[in-house]
Order: sequence, then structure tokens, then C-alpha cells
Amino acid sequence: MKQIAFIKVVLTNFKNHSSIEVNFSDITNIRGKNGAGKSSIGDAVTWCLYGKDVMGSKLEPQPIGTDLETKVELLLQVDGKQHLLGRSQKKTAKYYINEVPEKATTFKEFVDSILDEKLFFSLFTPGFFPSQKWTEQREQLLQHISEPLNKEVLSKMGKVESETLKENLKKHSLEDLEKLNKDRKRQLDVSYERAAERLLTLKEQLEQVSADKVDVAAIQKELDPLIAKRTEIEEEIDTFYQRKSARGRIESQIESLVELIDRQKSVVQGIKNEQIQEACQTCGQDLDEKSINKVKENRQVRFDKEVSTGKELIEKLNTAKESLAAMPIPEDIDRTELNEIDDKIVSLQVKLNGAGRVEQLHQNVTAAESNKEKLRKESNSSISILDAIKTFRSVRSELMVNKVDALFTKISVKLYEQLKNGEEKATFEIEMDGKPYSKLSTAEKIKAGLELIEVLSNQSQVITPCFVYNAESILHFTSPPGQLIVARVVDEEFSINPVSLKGAGENE
Ligand SMILES: Nc1ncnc2c1ncn2[C@@H]1O[C@H](COP(=O)(O)OP(=O)(O)OP(=O)(O)O)[C@@H](O)[C@H]1O
Ligand SMILES: [Mg+2]
Repeated sequence: MKQIAFIKVVLTNFKNHSSIEVNFSDITNIRGKNGAGKSSIGDAVTWCLYGKDVMGSKLEPQPIGTDLETKVELLLQVDGKQHLLGRSQKKTAKYYINEVPEKATTFKEFVDSILDEKLFFSLFTPGFFPSQKWTEQREQLLQHISEPLNKEVLSKMGKVESETLKENLKKHSLEDLEKLNKDRKRQLDVSYERAAERLLTLKEQLEQVSADKVDVAAIQKELDPLIAKRTEIEEEIDTFYQRKSARGRIESQIESLVELIDRQKSVVQGIKNEQIQEACQTCGQDLDEKSINKVKENRQVRFDKEVSTGKELIEKLNTAKESLAAMPIPEDIDRTELNEIDDKIVSLQVKLNGAGRVEQLHQNVTAAESNKEKLRKESNSSISILDAIKTFRSVRSELMVNKVDALFTKISVKLYEQLKNGEEKATFEIEMDGKPYSKLSTAEKIKAGLELIEVLSNQSQVITPCFVYNAESILHFTSPPGQLIVARVVDEEFSINPVSLKGAGENE
């Protein structure tokens, strides 16, 4: 526990005091009429330390209308060690530590090393703490109170919600987990919207397509004989062309045979018309009968040969003509029927494709439905995490509130307010008997302030003097942990009376 006590303060030309020395004790009673200069004693202390009045506002204490040098010297004791601090102001300010002149910065550093300025004002002036912004009050009060551990909070939550958070809190902080799941939920909600739209579109398409009901079996029954018929016609067409080409082949064979026979006839005729030469073509001498016969014989041999060739050709021609005559004459094909059948087949197949599309659409609808359901489940899991976070926070707040409440007896402190959406928002308000600080009477405010000082002093482990002014308005109050300086308005001469006590107790 750090102990700060004031031993004495010496004022020179400070507001209405030209020269006064105040010796402090456990209790220092300052009494006098209005305007006697009671509050100025407290101001002198805070001005010396910080250049401010007891409420922490800038102060110009030089006696009005003079150019006198204002000076305050404060002898204080910190954990048993005494320091004499001095500040003076004429045109410029001067600072002293143990009578040694120091720079403003050195002086400030020294004062700050004794105690944080805000904490000093909060402990010295009962009305200072509640005069700060609520955020500062909250921060100052809670800075020494540790938040309950996650484990403690989880143990106070329902089983399902605490299980939901437990594992997740091992990986992420509560804040990150919240950000993560808010973001995840936002994205999932967008995807869910899209999935729902897609499902709707698919269902509409399916409705349209299945409006003209397709009976696959009936179509197939109609289609099968048509395909069989078409195969039959195609076979007929095949046969027609085969026959046509077979006849064509024989016909051209006949044609070439006729030509060959004609040529053969003239070959035979040519041999027949040959004149027998009776004299040698070279010497002109008449050939003998033997030679002539030989020539005749030769002509006869060639003639017979060519005639037999001609006969063979005629035989071939006759055979060809016979087989042509034996060939069936291909009938002309009427393609109208085939075309009609083809048209029917195509239209039936289009219908069958439609049926395939219905099947595909059914599958798509099922897939879209399960996708939508999957997204809904995922989103729900994020919602339960977010809900659990809300519960976690409110349980943690409750534990925190309990911790803080346990510190006070007369006053209570509001740390959270409930928003309309059920979420909790940090706030700070001191209350006494259910009334907010701002509505309290002067005396009630002092009492509340004194309790706060006691708590802050305990929390920060620092004891400082406390300056209660307007104490005339209050009948009884509990002494603060440190020295007490009390200013009271009384219709008598200005007086300062230090009282030493053995122990703290109820004060008159
Ligand atoms: N800079 C100044 N120079 C001269 N006089 C000042 C200066 N500032 C304030 N005063 C006067 O000093 C006097 C003492 O003021 P102080 O506030 O200390 O009186 P008080 O005893 O606390 O009075 P109250 O009972 O009304 O609280 C007042 O008359 C005030 O007007
Ligand atoms: Mg006063």
C-alpha cells in the first residue's frame, strides 16, 4: 500500500490568502464564513502539484488586480519519505523540488512518479471521479478488477451453449469468433438466398416441362414398329440397288460382246475375201501347186479359228442374254413412305428427349434442395455460436457486476445496459438507493464519492489525503482511508484545526 500524506502547505499571495501556513493532521478542520478561503486551501495543494483546482480545472490563483508573486509550498510524505514541492507564479512559473529550482518537465516527471494525476484527483476530491466521462470512470474502476476466466464463465452457462463455445474458444478469441461467425453467417445467408432462388426457378421449369406429360413407354411402343418398318424399307432399297447394278453389269457385258461379235464377223469376212497369190511376190515366178495348196490350207486354218472364236462369243452373248432375262426387274422405289416414317420417328424422339429433360430437372431440383438445406444448417450453426457468444458475454458481465457490487456497500455501479436486440452495451453509472449520481443531493454525492474513494484506494493500493468541502451539508460520514481535510461553513472566524486520531472511525 502506497501512503501519501500531507505535512504542511504554505500559501503566499494565493487567491485571498496573502500568507498562511497549514499544518495537516489525521483530520484537519477548516471552518469559516463563505468566501473566507476554505476551498482555497485544497486548491493550493492541487495547484502546487498540477497547476489546477481541486476539480482538475486550470487555475489562476494570483490575487486579482495585483502583480504579486503567488507561491505554494507543499511538504508531503510518500511511504515515509518527505518531499518539499514548490510552485510560484508571477509572470512566469517556477518549480522547486526540495528548494532546488527545477524545469517544468522535471517537476512534472517527479510529481507523476509519485502518483498518476487522475488517480490523485479521484482520491483527493470526492466529486472528481464522477465528473469524468463515463468511459474514463469505467476504465479507471475496472482496471484493477480482472475479468472472470473463460472457464469460470463457461461453467455458469447451459451445457449446450458452453459445449458450442468451449472448443472454438481454444482456437479464437471471443471477439474473433464473433467476427468470424458474423461474416460466415452473412455469406451463408447470401448463398442461401441464391440457392432458394435457383430451387424456385428449377421447380418452375419442371412444372412447365411436365405439364405436357410424357409417357415414355407409350412413345417407345409407337416408335419400335416404325423403326422396324424403316429398317425393312431400307433393306428393300438396298436390294433394288444391288439388282440394278447386277443388271447394269450384264447389260454392259452384252454391249461389249455385241461389239466383239461384229468385229469378229468382219475378221472372218476378211479371211474369206483373201485372194490366193499364184506367183512369188519377190521374184514373180509362178508358185507350184504344192505351195498354192499350202497357202490355201493356211487361210482355211485361220478362217476356222476365227469362226470358232465368233461362235464362242455368240455363245457367251446368248448366256448373258439368258441370265439377263432371268434377272428380276427392280421395281422403282417410292420414298414418300420412308419420309413419312422418318418424320414420325423424329417427332417421337423429340418427345423422348423431353422426358429425359424432366428426369434431369428432377435430379437438379433434388440437388438444389439438399444444397439449400445444407446452407441452412451451416447458417444455423453460426447462429448458435453467435447466440452462445451473447450468453457468454451476459454471463461474464453478470460475474463482473457481482465482483464490482461486492466492492461497495452503499452505492452500486451499473456496468452494462441491455439493448433492444438483447445485446449488452458497456455503460457506467454510479447509483445510490436506485438513484443515479447526478440526481443525488450534495451530501449524498459526498457520501457516494467517499465510498468510491475507499474502493479506488483499496483497488489501487494507494492512500492519499481527501478533501471534503461543503461538509456542513452532511451530518455523518465514514472517514476515508487517508488523511481527511474537512471544510465547513460556519458563522465564525476562519480557523484551521488539525486533530490527531488513534484510529479512523465515525466523524462528527
Ligand atoms: N484570483 C483571486 N484573487 C483574489 N481573490 C480571489 C481569487 N479567486 C477567488 N478569490 C476569492 O477568494 C475568496 C475565497 O474563496 P474560497 O473559494 O476559498 O472561499 P470559501 O471559504 O471556500 O467560500 P465558500 O464557503 O463559499 O465555499 C472568495 O471571496 C473568492 O471570491
Ligand atoms: Mg468553498
